[in-house]
This record gives sequence, C-alpha cells and structure tokens, in this order.
Amino acid sequence: MSSRPNASRTSDSERAPLTLPALRAMKAAGEPVVMVTAYDHPSALAAEHAQADVVLVGDSGAMTVLGYDSTVPATTDEMLMLTRATRRGLRTPVLVADLPFGSYEVSDEQAVATAMRFVKEGGAHAVKLERGEPTSVARAAAIVAAGIPVMGHIGLTPQTATALGGYRAQGRTGADAAKIVEQAVALQDAGCFSIVLECIPSPVTEAVMERMDRAVVIGIGAGPAADGQVLVFHDLLGIREGKGAKFVKRYADLQDAMDAGVAAYAADVRSRTYPAPEHEYGMPEDQVAALREALAD
Ligand code: KIV
Repeated sequence: MSSRPNASRTSDSERAPLTLPALRAMKAAGEPVVMVTAYDHPSALAAEHAQADVVLVGDSGAMTVLGYDSTVPATTDEMLMLTRATRRGLRTPVLVADLPFGSYEVSDEQAVATAMRFVKEGGAHAVKLERGEPTSVARAAAIVAAGIPVMGHIGLTPQTATALGGYRAQGRTGADAAKIVEQAVALQDAGCFSIVLECIPSPVTEAVMERMDRAVVIGIGAGPAADGQVLVFHDLLGIREGKGAKFVKRYADLQDAMDAGVAAYAADVRSRTYPAPEHEYGMPEDQVAALREALAD
C-alpha cells in the first residue's frame, strides 16, 4: 500500500454522532433517514463523507466482497472482520451489523451471545436480524432485553430466499401483505428501534407505516413511504456485473472504471510505458559511482 487511507478527509468535523433518539426525532420530523451498506474502510469513509445517518455492515458483503453466491455462507468471524474495518472508517453514523444466517436462530442465548460479539468486538451500535415470524421476534426481544438495539428485516429476506421462492417481491397478495404488516407490528412491539422492509409493494409499506409509531422504517425496494432508504454500496456505485434488482438506482459505474484502470495499467507494464521517469527514484552520480565501486571487488 502506498499511502494511508485519509481518515482526516471526514467531511464535516462539526457533525455530532447520530444516536437512536436522533433517528427517532428524524422520523417524528419527517426527515428522511439515509442508510447505506459498507464493508470496509474505504466504503465506510464514503458513507461518512456523504453524512449517512445509518451504516449497515450487511451480510450482502458475503456476495459483494467475499464472492459467495448468496448471503447464507457468511460466518460470524467473517462479518466481524468486515464490521471492524467499517468501524475504523466511521465517526458519526449509527453502525448496525447484520447477524449472519445460523448465528441467532438456535436459541435466545445464541442470539444474545452473537449480538454481544458484534458490539464488543466489532464496535457496532446495533444488530440486524431477518424475518418476522415468532422465532425471530423472540430473538429480537431477547437481544433488546440484553441491552443491544435491534433492527428487524422483513419482506424479502435473503437468508431464507430459497423458502420464499427466490429473490422476488413479497407480499403481493392481500393475505401475504397482511402477514408482513403483522410482522412489522410484532417486531416493533418486541422493541426493535428500526425495521427494514425489502422488496414489497408500496401499498404494503403504506399500511405498515400507519402502525409504526416508534420503529424507524427503512425501505429497500419498498417505495417512498418509509422513513428512510437503504441501498447496497456496490449496487448504487455499479461495482458489479449485470443489471441488479429493479429498485436499484445506479449512481456510478465503478466496475467499468476499475476494469478500465487495471487494464490500462496492465497494458502500460506490457509495453514498458510504466514506470515512466516521473515514477523513478534518482541517486546522486557520486553515489552511483560509489555503488559501482563497492560492487567491483
Ligand atoms: O445485507 C444487506 O445489505 C441488507 C440490506 C439490503 C438491507 O440486509
């Protein structure tokens, strides 16, 4: 590595660190909450510079940075490593870490122990868990009772996408939509400070919002009614192949830029155009002579 990441570039040194009451105040004031995923130091710095309110170390990192073909294989140790790297790049946003699949479902004790690791070892302020059926609601309540804030996540839950019939919009019938609304209420009643709604029709989000007097609702593919929005860092910056989900708005094409940059470097090395004179370190003539002389014996 040629230089240290520039943590001092943090955009607004006057900005006070966000708190959960501050998020609730934003909800009350109708001020949109900005949430984005991050997985390492550079993505955390980008979130900090954009003054994101919440940063999620999502288990989407299993796919975006670890190269798995789903979020399922991510381990607690892998997610902790991503969380620590993200922590080091953040000063002001609330940092939420995703509990990976298999790390919280078995028992309340397992859920609390895993959540504790993300707070103590990872530096997270809160954890997120998926699904809103009674088991997940009980795990959320147990973690909250242990003093750790919890963000719920319902609708399309990628950890159990197989059971949901794949990565597709959820709650498209009245009955399925009613279940999502009930799950949101159950998670709010369990003490979740926030709930992510993923990939559901906008009218379902509107029905949820009518019942959310405490939980800060963050949408992803859930329309404009939520209190805030989240997108995956790599999706919004185009650091991926293919088009991505319908709800993704792409703000840059960084994969193309990265491919072009590395290809140009490779071409320069092959043509001996790089390094050029401006990249070389010089040496005084007398010292070159001294070197030659030292090597002459
Ligand atoms: O893992 C993740 O990035 C997420 C967001 C899509 C909410 O859960």
